[in-house]
Amino acid sequence: MRTVDELRAQVAAWRRQGLRIALVPTMGALHEGHLSLVELALGAADRVVVSIFVNPTQFGPEEDFATYPRSEAQDRAKLAALGAHLVFAPGEEEMFAPDFSTEVFVAGVSEGLCGASRPHFFAGVATIVAKLLNQCQPDIAVFGEKDYQQLLVIRRMVRDLDMPVDILAAPIVRDSDGLALSSRNAYLSAAERQIAPLLHRAIADMAQDVAEGRPMSEALEAARRRLEGAGFEVDYLEIRGAADLVPFEGEQPDRPARVFAAAWLGRTRLIDNVPVPTTGTESEGAA
Ligand code: PAF
Repeated sequence: MRTVDELRAQVAAWRRQGLRIALVPTMGALHEGHLSLVELALGAADRVVVSIFVNPTQFGPEEDFATYPRSEAQDRAKLAALGAHLVFAPGEEEMFAPDFSTEVFVAGVSEGLCGASRPHFFAGVATIVAKLLNQCQPDIAVFGEKDYQQLLVIRRMVRDLDMPVDILAAPIVRDSDGLALSSRNAYLSAAERQIAPLLHRAIADMAQDVAEGRPMSEALEAARRRLEGAGFEVDYLEIRGAADLVPFEGEQPDRPARVFAAAWLGRTRLIDNVPVPTTGTESEGAA
């Protein structure tokens, strides 16, 4: 389906039957991580809409919009095999009028971390997600914890603008060596792919160290050295509050915390995050 009118007609027909509708927004190039979002949606709703739209407004001028992987036919086959009910794949002209001039900006949670190095990114995401939610009007929308800051930005937008939708979070899906699945992993060379899982190992070990009482500044420094020693160029490496992304004052987290990292490996920017375990005995998600 390509148009908002068609999408609305189908959703209205489902509503008349009293069905519960979920939306899974994606930019396509679907991997197991996306499919896990669709599975979560299938378990939570009667009908699942998956949108595929490579949103130009969340890419900066120097970023990879032109080369971002696009594979709509394969994506459709994967979604059909899983039992998704509708694929909404609008063109740019359907999403943006030539004089489109509105932007949704969510302050606070969108600042710092990815918001610092990609200043255009969260306004682009919030604006397109607001549009998709208005177009589809689902009961539920599903987002992955891989893009944890994005998840919090969307939750805040939905709360602040009274959007009548429940936001569900799906856990990060990892390869067997710990690398978080991402469409951009396709950019990694074979040699870089060998190194890439260290990002997760470094932040999982760091989270464990902090849980066991190591001062945060020391743990951050050790993880940064480990990553740089392996050839990563660290964009950010931080521990922040899991609920609000506010940084900590002292050397120990005083509320639930997460480690957030973004690092370049060659021309590929990888991001990942893990919770700081609260028991001090296990590191959730560690490979
Ligand atoms: O996470 C993504 O794939 C995108 O940021 C999203 C939420 C589909 C908006 O374009």
